[in-house]
Amino acid sequence: MLAKTPRGTEDILPKQSRIWQYIEGQLADIFSLFGYKEIRTPMFEETELFQRGIGEATDIVEKEMYTFDDRAGRSLTLRPEGTAPVVRSYLQHKLYGEPQPVKVYYLGPMFRYERPQAGRSRQFHQYGAEALGTQDPATDAEMIAIPVELYHRLGLHALQVEINSIGCPECRGEYRDYLIATLEPRMEQLCSDCQRRLQRNPLRVLDCKNETCNMAKVGLRPIVEFLCRECSDHFGQVQAYLDLLRIPYVINHNLVRGFDYYTKTVFEIIYSELGAQSAIAGGGRYDGLIEECGGPSVPAVGFAAGMERLILTLEHIGWEPPIAGAIDVFIAGVGETRSAVVELAFRLRRAGWATEMDYGDRSLRAQMKAAHRLNAAWTIIVGEDELRHAQAVVRHMASGRQELVPLANMEVYLRKAKDTGCQGTKE
Ligand code: HAM
Repeated sequence: MLAKTPRGTEDILPKQSRIWQYIEGQLADIFSLFGYKEIRTPMFEETELFQRGIGEATDIVEKEMYTFDDRAGRSLTLRPEGTAPVVRSYLQHKLYGEPQPVKVYYLGPMFRYERPQAGRSRQFHQYGAEALGTQDPATDAEMIAIPVELYHRLGLHALQVEINSIGCPECRGEYRDYLIATLEPRMEQLCSDCQRRLQRNPLRVLDCKNETCNMAKVGLRPIVEFLCRECSDHFGQVQAYLDLLRIPYVINHNLVRGFDYYTKTVFEIIYSELGAQSAIAGGGRYDGLIEECGGPSVPAVGFAAGMERLILTLEHIGWEPPIAGAIDVFIAGVGETRSAVVELAFRLRRAGWATEMDYGDRSLRAQMKAAHRLNAAWTIIVGEDELRHAQAVVRHMASGRQELVPLANMEVYLRKAKDTGCQGTKE
């Protein structure tokens, strides 16, 4: 056998792409209702963007990036996420000079060198949105409301929205000092990762799931007790908006997320049945990132959600996309009719009918079977005798009714048949 897909990557086969396209269609609709425009950034960026943006001491930058030198010796990295690229684009094209906020969405592959398992791959797809140039807590709530809206449309309700606030650099600094002072005497209880993290990134100790670390964390004060007035007010308003939108949530004091750019609100949406990889969306506010990347001081907020995890979740609840993927017309040719079949197929497609035809020299029986399998509304049988009179038999598949129709009138006939309800949707 020739090569397989690289570890941690997958093909999306035609059967599955139907599901992807359905979800993508819903997303485009929802994003446009919420006033977000699509942005498409490159698959790779200069490595420094992610080092600075995501943070040197994060798991992603330390060990999960696909980084390589190009032939001119520049260090490039396949994007592990979409926020830093959007910020880069916002600065490069001076979008801060346009009316604010700039509201964008994206959908595409991201790359992380992680240990693959169910719901975790090395190439995965995210859809996400960013609102740059606003500190309004209503946009924080909007970032939660958008994925929740999609989940509701898909009939997915058993979700948990978890929120927290990790404050601004000032109040967080105080909490970091508190964590270091409190956890240092419990150092030997911490796992080796957390021992390493405690000085550099003590907040990450909070979301470590290791059991001995959990013991060490017993009795810790939550970060919300350390928030300054502004951060605390902001968090209160985000909660008030979520209440207003009737989106249930819980406050998870240990939720800190794995990026350095967050300030104030952070959140995750969890579908717990997925097990270890149960976060189907995550995001938060990043009021310092644009400045950190060399731009003006502009607040921003966003979210991203995993497509593969969403599809796993939908499989778990037995969801099926509503469209059956049926075609309008199947053209079966019998005898020396090939050119007429090819020509008719192209003509009907041009007129807007989804049309399929036989590509082999198969028997009428085999072709009828193919028409059934494709769920065709009509089958047009082009036989030599009929063709001599420039006609073909049109069979309405659901009722079995057949009619002889002049080829020249085919579009008009189909249009009429459709309008009178002969759409042939199969029982
Ligand atoms: P994140 O939490 O790293 O956030 O990723 C968001 C979502 O992407 C996760 O909740 C999960 O559903 C999916 N995901 C992440 N890694 C994988 C993986 N290896 N395999 C499959 N799915 C995965 C971000 O990326 C931030 N940029 C979100 C954000 C936008 N914050 C502000 N704006």
